[in-house]
Amino acid sequence: MNVPQQRKLVTEIPGPKSQEIIKRRSEAVSASLGMALPAVITHASGGILLDIDGNQFIDMGSGIAVVNVGNSAPAVVERVQKQVSEFTHTCFMIAPYEGYVEVCEQLNELTPGKFKKKSALFNSGAEALENAVKIARHYTKRQAIVVFEHGYHGRTNLTMAMTAKNMPYKEGFGPFTPEVYRMPMAYPFRHEGNIDHALDEVIHKIEKEIGGKNLAAIVIEPIQGEGGFIVPPKGFLPGLAKFAKDNGALFIADEVQTGFARTGQWFACEDEGVEPDLITTAKGIAGGLPLAAVTGRAEVMDEIHPSGLGGTYGGNPIACAAALGAIETIKSENLNQRAKEIGKIMVDALTAMQKKYPVIGEVRGRGAMIAIELVQPGSKEPNGEIMGKVVKYAQSKGVVFLTAGTYGNVLRFLPPLVISDELVKDAMSVLDEAFANN
Ligand SMILES: Cc1ncc(COP(=O)(O)O)c(C=O)c1O
Repeated sequence: MNVPQQRKLVTEIPGPKSQEIIKRRSEAVSASLGMALPAVITHASGGILLDIDGNQFIDMGSGIAVVNVGNSAPAVVERVQKQVSEFTHTCFMIAPYEGYVEVCEQLNELTPGKFKKKSALFNSGAEALENAVKIARHYTKRQAIVVFEHGYHGRTNLTMAMTAKNMPYKEGFGPFTPEVYRMPMAYPFRHEGNIDHALDEVIHKIEKEIGGKNLAAIVIEPIQGEGGFIVPPKGFLPGLAKFAKDNGALFIADEVQTGFARTGQWFACEDEGVEPDLITTAKGIAGGLPLAAVTGRAEVMDEIHPSGLGGTYGGNPIACAAALGAIETIKSENLNQRAKEIGKIMVDALTAMQKKYPVIGEVRGRGAMIAIELVQPGSKEPNGEIMGKVVKYAQSKGVVFLTAGTYGNVLRFLPPLVISDELVKDAMSVLDEAFANN
């Protein structure tokens, strides 16, 4: 169903039908699961989510950077429907199928790096990270993994250790896996001291606290997602990649959130010509179906013994069909270009708002991955209260905004890349109204 591409409210939020299901949810579903939008969705397409009461919300979050090609993108639906009617599962390690091979071919071609690459498919971002670390340790015969403050890599035991923020991701879930070392992130808005020294400081710390010869891999998000869309200064990523190389370690780019045209390029590390040894992808790869991948240097990917990697569902044929539909859509709709256009609309609107509302401390990001960091006026003191109010206000007007940030004070904007200019502008005007009213 094509949902009309406009914002529309017919009830209070949540509406009566949503309320009923949310009540059932609280009886049946573990209270541990969050709920950002109190509205039960029945359909979605393009940039609009339709709820069971008939309300239409502008989707400014893409289900956390997943539906870059829009919900139920026609090429995804078509390929999934065909695949589901042909066969649903064999387990790729039992009996192979072409879709898996084709997704790996596409990934090997589309990811940065002018060298021979190979891929392996998994189910979730965290699982891709787990496997990238397994590969790096096996290949280098070393154990130390470097990650960064404000980083997010998932919720499994290893990826909890790699993730920086305690609440809500880690609290009470330890002990965590050893040999994961967290380094300071170059966070321009909050960096204390001279940010030009950030790279040298990290390198010095690795040398002193770990020893370059013990380092298996440096794992970093080229733009940190959950941490608050933190864009490191130019030179930071290439410098880390060079340090890894000089020390016989791997440089792993976690592109789970930044990947698949989100930043205006297929992958965010292309911005500075960084060629990671391994890249982890998920989210935007398959238009909403669960799929993830590790792609990297063929000699690294092939070093693992036969059957050393895998899993029952990794690279499921339906998810692979969806990925091929999503990749086809990114190409045919030129969504890299579109991400830049959407980004410009958002940045223009947000910088104009920043002049009016001193709670907006910084506007940052790249392509259609844009955020604002909210502060107490006249300082950099995080301002989480205003964010909560603005998000709630926007929901009551039919716009879904996502939050992020170590200090819970970052509003992030990552709409589907097929959204119209009108909807993005409408969402921005609701945001303006939200700041004016709070
Ligand atoms: C950069 C990054 N890595 C890994 C993950 C984990 O992905 P998943 O939730 O699919 O396990 C996320 C999820 O938000 C992410 O943003």
